[in-house]
Amino acid sequence: MDASGLRVNGKRLQDSLEQMAKIGATPGGGVQRLTVSGEDKQARDLFIQWLEEIDLEVTIDEMGNIFGRRPGTNDNLPPVFAGSHIDSQPKGGRFDGILGVMSALEVMRTLHDNDVQTERPLLIVDWTNEEGSRFSPAMMASGVWAGKIDRDYAYSRTDRDDKVFGEELERIGYKGTVAAKAWPFHAYYEMHIEQGPILEREGKTIGIPKGILCLHWYDVYLEGKANQVGPTPMEGRNDALVAAAEMILAVQSVPARLGGNLVATVGEIQNYPNSRNIIPDGVHFTVDIRSWDDQLAIKAWEQLKLDFQAAADKNGCPMRLEETWRVEHTPFAEKLVGFVAQKAEELGYSSHHMVSGAGHDASYMNMLGDAAMIFVPSLGGRSHVEVENTTWEDCTAGANVLLHCMLESADEV
Ligand code: GLV
Ligand code: MN
Ligand code: MN
Repeated sequence: MDASGLRVNGKRLQDSLEQMAKIGATPGGGVQRLTVSGEDKQARDLFIQWLEEIDLEVTIDEMGNIFGRRPGTNDNLPPVFAGSHIDSQPKGGRFDGILGVMSALEVMRTLHDNDVQTERPLLIVDWTNEEGSRFSPAMMASGVWAGKIDRDYAYSRTDRDDKVFGEELERIGYKGTVAAKAWPFHAYYEMHIEQGPILEREGKTIGIPKGILCLHWYDVYLEGKANQVGPTPMEGRNDALVAAAEMILAVQSVPARLGGNLVATVGEIQNYPNSRNIIPDGVHFTVDIRSWDDQLAIKAWEQLKLDFQAAADKNGCPMRLEETWRVEHTPFAEKLVGFVAQKAEELGYSSHHMVSGAGHDASYMNMLGDAAMIFVPSLGGRSHVEVENTTWEDCTAGANVLLHCMLESADEV
């Protein structure tokens, strides 16, 4: 069958996204669907119901990754994959992750409605814990699946309330029995919101990322000496929060000091005992460094270690550093990037070549095989916030590009 005229049902995609947005809806118009939480479970249950409605074969692996398989006419060939993640940031948006999962579902529904057969099998996936904000690292379950993160290390990770990832996964009923272990695949596509301002600024509909920046995560633990704030003179204090403040400013200034193309952020901090009239005796904070240039990102960390030691010594606060996670920058498969550009053009959508500053499961998939992504504009360039938004027209456009990229790859033999 000639499927070139096939288009997804934009209204149905919108409805699915709106239904998902109700699960964990926040008063500010976003969602909070933290990984392996009750809300995550509810969204997963609905997702599986939708997969079963179109006769996909559902598998849940030991990391809680959910796969829905559609057979190909040549069913032994490695499949074409598409998906993203259902989990969200705390007070996150209605599009990050879920758009890629719902678009892949819409593609499957469109093929189902039109009785389209593909040579290769097709797979839709929801990767567990992409966000990494409750349990670090991010992209945890695709990392385990790809053999890059140890499964038991992942199970042992704890959140701020000392809840253990493996136990929480079991509690929500999504610790499957199938091994989280990669199998050969022919292509992996992930559609996603851009999460930045470029497409909107350029007035383009489809973003074509050539790859993803490297992601380096660190954890810093500082020890101070607690005391009553009133009677204790300013001189001679060991204030862990003051030491942290100096370190945070060093993180902020390191990109300019190195003069290269990188970003560095402290996004999370815990202060103990966190009382206005006690000198802080414990601080934990995170550091996130990203660049297309892995060596530059490592150089930034080497510089920061010196800066941190100086601040720790000055304030008499011993520190412990953890190099929590590193993923190298990801240059996507040129052939697949070419398909994204070609399909956008054939469908009449304007497009723009770019890089992804945000991390995605596509990084791990690209280490094993061919991967590429399709971006659509983020209104106001805002993401990881409740006001995150993308027009329904752009969601539909991205899903149509995804449909035709998948069809192209699925009939390659
Ligand atoms: C994932 O959401 C990231 O880019 O941190
Ligand atoms: Mn995402
Ligand atoms: Mn995200």
